[in-house]
Amino acid sequence: MAILRNKDILRADQFSKEEVGLIMDTARAFEQDLQAGEVLDTMKGQILASLFFEPSTRTRLSFETAMLRLGGEVVTVADPKTSSTAKGESLHDTIKTVEGYADLIVLRHPQIGAAEEAAAATDKPILNAGDGAGQHPTQSLLDLYTIEKEKGTADGLTISLAGDLKNGRTVHSLVDLLTLFDVKFYFVAPPALRMPEEIVAKLKTKGIKVTETESLEEALAASDVLYMTRIQRERFADPAEYERLKGAYVLNRALLEKAKEGITIMHPLPRVNEIATDVDEYAGAAYFRQSANGVPVRMALLALVTGKA
Ligand code: NCD
Repeated sequence: MAILRNKDILRADQFSKEEVGLIMDTARAFEQDLQAGEVLDTMKGQILASLFFEPSTRTRLSFETAMLRLGGEVVTVADPKTSSTAKGESLHDTIKTVEGYADLIVLRHPQIGAAEEAAAATDKPILNAGDGAGQHPTQSLLDLYTIEKEKGTADGLTISLAGDLKNGRTVHSLVDLLTLFDVKFYFVAPPALRMPEEIVAKLKTKGIKVTETESLEEALAASDVLYMTRIQRERFADPAEYERLKGAYVLNRALLEKAKEGITIMHPLPRVNEIATDVDEYAGAAYFRQSANGVPVRMALLALVTGKA
């Protein structure tokens, strides 16, 4: 299918429902292949460049695992201190260089809009692996994949997002993606970390019901899915403000007793203190399954943008 061929993956609101369906179907097919122990050569002879100018464990390693599982090869910058960025090279020049080496480029960068800037510099596909507090579209696709796997469908669900909704790029992308479905939202955050006004306004224009609250208990009682997030320390100008807010929400087994039966707990990870480890044993704690889902979803994206799936 050619609809995603040669496309950049920059923002979650770029996708049509048809494209999302294709990505989910392709990911499910790859997951079956992996479970059957098949060794794939879908991307044999292709090279992925993964450029990470911010820390990462899951996103980088699952992209690289995805490429290797598809039979492709990977070159990496995992630490900006080891690249010419440390010598003052511009993002434009880095991308113009890397396009000469690789067939497609995954980029994580601290600046909002960096992926768009990279995409303007090259015709090779750019996949945004997080641009500062902006977007993280590939995470939202694996989040949707997880919701569909855990719940059957996103349609009809009440989904709560809790924590740092101001600075968390995963939640910005996830709500954009879920506007393609029939969902209701609870946004749970302290006043200083609320979801940006323009995102809430956009949802309301689309007729999506949004309840903003500071009460995690209120949201838990009504939710089919709770998506917890880390307070994004690296986005705070004032360390004291981070200290004040870092314990805003902590989900533990006692609090989970107040949740709607069968609730699914998600988190993009890494967690700091916002989910107690006693929640890990709960059957609906899906966050490690969620991180594993990054591999088939990213296999689908790599294969689709290069026209190999
Ligand atoms: C998230 C990120 O980098 O935005 N992690 C991830 O990609 N799974 C979430 C976070 O860092 O809090």
